[in-house]
Amino acid sequence: MIRVEKLHKTFGTGTRARPVLHDVDLNIAQGTIGAVVGPSGAGKSTLARCVNLLERPTSGRVWVAGTDVTDLPERDLRHARRAIGTVFQSANLLRRRTVAQNVAMPLRHLGVTAREEKRRVAELLERVGLTDRADDYPAQLSGGQRQRVGIARALALRPKVLLSDEATSGLDPAATRSVLALLRELRTDLDLAILLITHEMEVVREVADTAALLREGRVIESGAVHQLVADPHSALGNALLPDRPVSLDRPGLGTWRLTYQGRSVPTDWLTRLGADHGLDVHLLSATVEEIAGQAAGRATVAVGHDRADELTAALDGWGIHAEPLPPGHSGPAEEPAASEPAREAAAETVEGAVG
Ligand SMILES: Nc1ncnc2c1ncn2[C@@H]1O[C@H](COP(=O)(O)OP(=O)(O)O)[C@@H](O)[C@H]1O
Ligand SMILES: [Mg+2]
Repeated sequence: MIRVEKLHKTFGTGTRARPVLHDVDLNIAQGTIGAVVGPSGAGKSTLARCVNLLERPTSGRVWVAGTDVTDLPERDLRHARRAIGTVFQSANLLRRRTVAQNVAMPLRHLGVTAREEKRRVAELLERVGLTDRADDYPAQLSGGQRQRVGIARALALRPKVLLSDEATSGLDPAATRSVLALLRELRTDLDLAILLITHEMEVVREVADTAALLREGRVIESGAVHQLVADPHSALGNALLPDRPVSLDRPGLGTWRLTYQGRSVPTDWLTRLGADHGLDVHLLSATVEEIAGQAAGRATVAVGHDRADELTAALDGWGIHAEPLPPGHSGPAEEPAASEPAREAAAETVEGAVG
C-alpha cells in the first residue's frame, strides 16, 4: 500500500520558503489504482517524489508496502526505492541500448547471473507485450511502446507499488488506452498499489479505483470513483461525468436532476417509468458512461408535479438519486454543496482534459 499522512513539503527556507504540499493524506491499497488529479503546478509530481523517496517530506509520514519510509537513513534509501517502480511522462530510455538492455538496467549491480537476467527480461517483455521488440532500439518504437518498456523496467525489481507520473500525457488516444489497459492488468495480476498522477479526467474514468483532487498543494476532495460519480455534489464526480442539466419551465411540470451508478440501476429505467409506472417523462439531458467498470449516469427529466411522489419512489427503488432542479436552470451543474474552490478546480481539471 501507499499511505501518506499529514504530508507537508516546503522548498527553500527563510524568505525563499515555498510551501508546495499542505497536510496531504492519501491511501492506496494493494490491488488498486489511486489517481491524483489536478491542474499543472498543484504539487502532483512533488507528492510522487515524496513517495518514491526522491524528496524528503518537510513533515508528515509516508508508508510504502507496510514500511514507514519517512525517516530512513540515507544508506537505506537505495534498498527502499527498490520496492517502488516509477514511470514518467517520457520513459527516459537509453537511446544506445536495446529494449532488452533497457529493461535489464535495474538488474545490473545486483549480482544477477546472465542467465537469470535473460529469463527475467524475457518474462517482463512478455508481460508488457513486447517480446518481439527485444532487440530494437527505443527510436524504432512508438510512444506507447516506449512507455511499455518503461513500465517493464519499473517492474524489474518486483516492486509492490508503482508510481506513474503523467505516463500517458502526450500519447495519442489509442496508445493511452493500451497503456492504461496494461496498468489495469498489472494492478490485478501483480496486486500492485498504483499511484496514477494525471491532469486528464479521461484517464481517471478509464482506470482509477479511487481519486483525489489536488489543488494548490491541498487535497480538496477524495474518494472511491464509483462513489464520487454517484454524488451529485462532488466536484470530482462532476468532472468525471459532466452534464448540463436544464429545467423545463412549463406550468404543472417539475424538473429533477438524477444521478446514478451501479448494477442496481436497470439500463431501461426511462422506458420502465412510462411502461410500468405510467409516467409521462420528458428527458431534457442525459449522459451515461462506463466508469469503474459500471454504468454511471446523470440526467434531467421533467414530470407533472402531481406525479412527483411516484417518480421519486420508482427511482429510489432502483437506487437513482433524484433532486429537484429549480426553474430557469440551464448549463453546467451548479453545486450548492460543493465549495467554491472545489468547483473551480473541477472545471479547470476538465478544461485540462479537453484542451
Ligand atoms: N525542487 C523544487 N524547488 C522549488 N520549487 C519546486 C521544486 N519542485 C517543484 N517546485 C514547485 O512546486 C510546485 C508544484 O510543482 P509540481 O509538483 O511539479 O506540480 P505538478 O506536478 O502538479 O504540475 C510548482 O510551483 C513548482 O514550481
Ligand atoms: Mg507534474
